[in-house]
Amino acid sequence: MSRKGAIIVLDFGGQYAHLIASRVRRFGYFSEILPAETDVKDLKSAAGIILSGGPQSVYEAGSPQADPEILKLGIPILGLCYGHQWIAQIAGGTVQPGAVKEYGKTPIELGKSILFKNVPPSSVVWMSHGDEVKELPPPEYGHFKTIASSSSCKIAGMADEEKKIFGLQFHIEVAHTEHGLTILRNFVDLCKPEPWSVESYAKHVGEQIKSEAGDKKVFMLVSGGVDSSVAFMLLNKVLGKERVQGLLIDTGLMRKNEIKAVRDAFGKLGIDNLEVVDASEEFFSNLKEIYDPEEKREIIGNTFINDQQRIFKEMDLEPKATSQKPQAKWLLGQGTIYPDTIETGGTKHADKIKTHHNRVEVIQKMIEKGLVIEPLKEFYKDEVRKLGEELGLPHELVWRHPFPGPGLGVRILCAKESTLPEKIDETDLKLNGSYAVLPIRSVGVQGDGRTYRHAIAFFHSKPTEITERDMELATLVPNSIPAFNRVLICLTHEKSFVPEISPGYITKERADLLREADAIVDEEMRAAGLYEKIWQFPVVLLPVGTRKGGQSIVLRPIESQDAMTANAVQLPSNVLKKMTDRIMKLEGIDAVFLDLTNKPPGTIEWE
Ligand code: XMP
Repeated sequence: MSRKGAIIVLDFGGQYAHLIASRVRRFGYFSEILPAETDVKDLKSAAGIILSGGPQSVYEAGSPQADPEILKLGIPILGLCYGHQWIAQIAGGTVQPGAVKEYGKTPIELGKSILFKNVPPSSVVWMSHGDEVKELPPPEYGHFKTIASSSSCKIAGMADEEKKIFGLQFHIEVAHTEHGLTILRNFVDLCKPEPWSVESYAKHVGEQIKSEAGDKKVFMLVSGGVDSSVAFMLLNKVLGKERVQGLLIDTGLMRKNEIKAVRDAFGKLGIDNLEVVDASEEFFSNLKEIYDPEEKREIIGNTFINDQQRIFKEMDLEPKATSQKPQAKWLLGQGTIYPDTIETGGTKHADKIKTHHNRVEVIQKMIEKGLVIEPLKEFYKDEVRKLGEELGLPHELVWRHPFPGPGLGVRILCAKESTLPEKIDETDLKLNGSYAVLPIRSVGVQGDGRTYRHAIAFFHSKPTEITERDMELATLVPNSIPAFNRVLICLTHEKSFVPEISPGYITKERADLLREADAIVDEEMRAAGLYEKIWQFPVVLLPVGTRKGGQSIVLRPIESQDAMTANAVQLPSNVLKKMTDRIMKLEGIDAVFLDLTNKPPGTIEWE
């Protein structure tokens, strides 16, 4: 049963379902995500329903379907992308593949609608679709009118204003849609939902932790990142030190000086139930000769779990049951947050983009058995940070850039041999001067699905001066040439070179090299006062150089609000130059690139 007065997001598997809910929560209202098929009876107490996008076609057999009765509930409904098409289909309209697939920023003309209060009639929106609504539902199903059109999609928006049922082909929940938040706000205001705040929700989560834990203790892997640190603090606070044991596994894939910083931060707060264990050799040995990104993630996740289970036994936390002393019971704590679950295909219809380390198979099985506690699984990053500050964690720790669970493991690209895309139409590329196709692929996300494609690098006469044209190319190239999902600018060379592959997997030497480059970037960003101005700054090591045996570094500064979508950041030329010059002094690095790809079509990390 949905909570009274909530805005419900029905999930058709879109990558953005959580983004919609997080935006609504930031307006100060409770929003939760429920499966598309939720019974209409369970939606009666909702204030409004938003139907998310999704990777399938509404007319396909087996595609996710909501209960058609929701259209008769008499509460406001807004369909986005797949949701828009679903409403059209159910109400008797027609949905078909569009003549042109629209991906990316698209100009739109808006008509009159209560949804568009305070929104100008022409603006730019984010489109990501292959199908479109070809015909509006006929009059016997309501009074639907077209309220938005783009050049290739005539019914990009429709409304039955009387029944307050709306459909939009574009994604108002992503930052790329110019007035998206105003439109969402207009819809939410129509729904008159119940007020909500992180603080009040934290109390509810505290109660939830107590009831889930019962009389059990919690053994928790702490990575040093914001999420696991906040989760660990929260468990300590709610259950008390005696019932929580933290474990920090040094994987050899952590940042420079990271372990000491984490220990010090908790030490200052009197949290001393954190054990640190060096397992780096085991991680490197398990990752030997592994090249595939998903396989790497799976191995890192499994090694974590094996270590955790072994150490758990070694620490003798689970004493043998005796008649006087019943066996103590432990749960596994994890700092999983909302986006981690969705991007692993954690909701029923979502396509799998990448397996997060805390969602590998062993953990999934433990979750099914009720052996895992994840106090932050319904929170977004900004909410986790708010909570962390409330719990008294140091500012430095709470505002650290997000760092992936598998650590530098997903930033050390591995390759056995060179791979190149099959055929490229070079006509467009030639117009843009000198370029090189990198013989390596990375993970991206397009139209709600995973891609694994090549990166292309462009060259300039002033390498560290990034222009608006460079930024445009980052959108244009992946949209028009399917071989690429990433666009780089070379920061060290004016003229293109033939990139050579230097076969390699994850080793301590490569991790050390990346650690140094990463530390340089961190230092320079802080020195320039830019560290807290951006969301995250992955630094990536590529087994690609100007000659055999050479490697290169990719800088990926990005802005984001919640990691679901992200924009590449245009850093000042002097900052880029300083970093690049220092990185080029590292032995073995012979080129530095800047990644200008937005998400989508790239993901934040390369793997
Ligand atoms: P992507 O690369 O999917 O990343 O755009 C979205 C956000 O998630 C972080 N990330 C991870 N975090 N375990 C984590 O805890 C993981 O396996 C993982 N992979 C990516 C990434 O750094 C970004 O903030």
